[in-house]
Amino acid sequence: MWYNNADAAYHQAITHLGMTHMLMEGVTLATHRNLSLSHPIFKLLAPHFLYLIAINTGWELLVSDGGWVDKTMNFGNKGLFALISKGLNTWRMDLEGTLPNDLKGRGLDDLNVLPCYHFRNDAILLYEVINKYIKSYVILYYPTDNLLQKDTEIQKWAAELVKERNGSEGGFGILGVPGNGQIQTRQQLEQIVTCIVYTCSVSHASTNFPQYEEYAFPPNYPGLLRGRPPSDAVCC
Ligand SMILES: [Fe+2]
Repeated sequence: MWYNNADAAYHQAITHLGMTHMLMEGVTLATHRNLSLSHPIFKLLAPHFLYLIAINTGWELLVSDGGWVDKTMNFGNKGLFALISKGLNTWRMDLEGTLPNDLKGRGLDDLNVLPCYHFRNDAILLYEVINKYIKSYVILYYPTDNLLQKDTEIQKWAAELVKERNGSEGGFGILGVPGNGQIQTRQQLEQIVTCIVYTCSVSHASTNFPQYEEYAFPPNYPGLLRGRPPSDAVCC
C-alpha cells in the first residue's frame, strides 16, 4: 500500500497532470501563438487540444490550497507542484515523449523478459498508426525539407517550444525537442507532432480513464495514507 501510495503521487504529478495536462497546455499556447488557423500543422493539431484549457481551468479547484489534492493526496498541493516542476526539468520529448524510446529506456521493450505487458502491446500499435498517418500528412504539405526550413511559422513554433520558460515572455522549456528549436527535416517534425498527438490521446487516456478502477478502493491504490510506512519488515 505504501509503495502504491508513492506510485500514485508519481502518477498524478508526473504521468497524468504534469506531462499530459500541463505540458500540452504549453504546446497548445505555442501553437495558437505561432501558427495561423490555416496552417496545415495547426489544422492537424487543433482537434487534439479541444477542451484542454477548459479542463485545466477546472483543475484549479483540485489543486488550489485546501482543494481536493490537499484533502486526498499525501503530498498535498505544494508537493504536487514541486514534483511537476522536478519532472518538467528532466522530461525529454525524444525519450519519455517518444513511446518506443520510453519503453526501451525503462527496460520494458523486451518481449522475452516481459511477455504480457498490455499497455505496451496496445499503445505501440496506436503509436505506430499515429506516426504513419502523420508521416503521410507531413510529406503532403512538405515535399522537401527545404520548404519546411523556410516556413517561418513552424520555425517560430519550434523555437517557442524549447525557449526557456519565462512567464510573460513566453517559452515552454521543453527538453529533447527534435531539432532543438530549429526544424531541419521532415522526420524531426513528424516526431514532434507524433509525440503531441500521442500524448493528448493515447497517453492521456491511459493515465486518466483507469483512475476510478485504481483509486476507488483505497487499499488497492491509496492516494492518502496516515501514519508511517513500516520500518521493521521481516523477511519470510
Ligand atoms: Fe486527465
